[in-house]
Amino acid sequence: MLPNIVLIGFMGSGKSSVGRRIASLAGHRFVDTDELVAKRAGQSITQIFNTHGEARFRDLETAALLDLAHARGIVLATGGGIVLREENRAALRRIGPVAWLDAHPDTLFERVSRVKKRPLLQTDDPRASFDALLAERRGVYAQAADFRIDSTDRSHEDAARAVIAEAEGLQNRARGFDS
Ligand code: S3P
Repeated sequence: MLPNIVLIGFMGSGKSSVGRRIASLAGHRFVDTDELVAKRAGQSITQIFNTHGEARFRDLETAALLDLAHARGIVLATGGGIVLREENRAALRRIGPVAWLDAHPDTLFERVSRVKKRPLLQTDDPRASFDALLAERRGVYAQAADFRIDSTDRSHEDAARAVIAEAEGLQNRARGFDS
């Protein structure tokens, strides 16, 4: 059986869509930290940011992650900023292989621009905020991930299959099989 799979990456990288596809291919349950946080707070992510601020959102995000410590058979999609805390990065690694879903910055920006739901991009210059955050975070994703999948020119299906293949390769190497 495939292990749990954790998806990290910037806003717009396709974590939820690709994650749902992986879950259905692998027979796993799809879990999304943003959904867990919203449920726990009884508020949308935007409302949490507006009424309690980012720090409160980050605390809820860490709490949601710790609740998943013993989960089995899941594909976990995470909010783009979850990797900022070292304790979160350690918790993610304990859950399962960590895949960094990435794409060209223009592709990411085009995807996030379709839906105005990201509190961190509700600024006077969303592209500048986007570029600054991405520059800050790329190294953190690289450090937190076991492997990187570029979704720029891939369908959700292709990206999902690529993640599964990498996770299986990791699992086989860990068991000492050739892959
Ligand atoms: C955030 C990304 C969002 C959400 C929140 C903060 C971030 O999730 O967790 O708005 O800090 O990058 P997505 O990556 O699913 O958009």
